[in-house]
Amino acid sequence: MDAFLENAARAKWRGVLGINIGKNFDTPMERAADDYVACLEKVCTAASYVTINISSPNTKGLRGLQDKAVLDALLGRIVTARDRLADRHGRRVPLALKIAPDLDATQIADIAATVRAQRIDALIATNTSLSRAGVEGLPHAEEQGGLSGAPIKAHATAVLAALARELAGEVPLIGAGGILSGADAAEKAAAGASLVQLYTGLIYRGPALVRECVRAMDRQPA
Ligand SMILES: Cc1cc2nc3c(=O)[nH]c(=O)nc-3n(C[C@H](O)[C@H](O)[C@H](O)COP(=O)(O)O)c2cc1C
Repeated sequence: MDAFLENAARAKWRGVLGINIGKNFDTPMERAADDYVACLEKVCTAASYVTINISSPNTKGLRGLQDKAVLDALLGRIVTARDRLADRHGRRVPLALKIAPDLDATQIADIAATVRAQRIDALIATNTSLSRAGVEGLPHAEEQGGLSGAPIKAHATAVLAALARELAGEVPLIGAGGILSGADAAEKAAAGASLVQLYTGLIYRGPALVRECVRAMDRQPA
């Protein structure tokens, strides 16, 4: 965290800075909340908003934090810490929760209810997928880790749309997963996203993708 904060302080960027926090791979699951609180304490003054990442497939057990009771307890600890830090620093840092695409309808409904109850400020749907649907038989399809980009787009958008139905505008949604064009960004907006997040598309399309997405989303009806 210290090295990261030094890098962030050196950056020339002075716009919105979202900082993404997670637990260490070797912290036992029952102490996961301690890691999130420690990270939040470190980054809260540097961040425009903080993302609670419970959906990376690369940290063993991390996605178990999406289970209802576990998530409720975790968010409770983090929100309490955030409010304490707000008293100390005079600024309430917004919190976003980032979830996996590999969730069923019940899990999505549970997450929506927990986020609403804990008054989390935004939901990011989605992270990479454990599924290999759409890439079966291709070279490297059996590699470990999360799948990103075009093959996960439809599923990530379906999770986003399900959250939008559950939350009915109460919690802003950030769409991610397979945005490789402005049209893809507009699709996320149509499914309920107020903002989008790009990762794989930047690798294939470069920074021009950002402008294309902004323009496409501007054309969306409010
Ligand atoms: C190599 C790689 C590293 C990633 N690291 C993180 C991470 O540290 N935290 C996080 O929340 N998401 C992480 N992601 C997920 C992306 O931010 C994004 O949610 C996901 O890849 C789906 O979007 P995309 O199809 O545009 O890549 C990572 C994705 C990739 C491919």
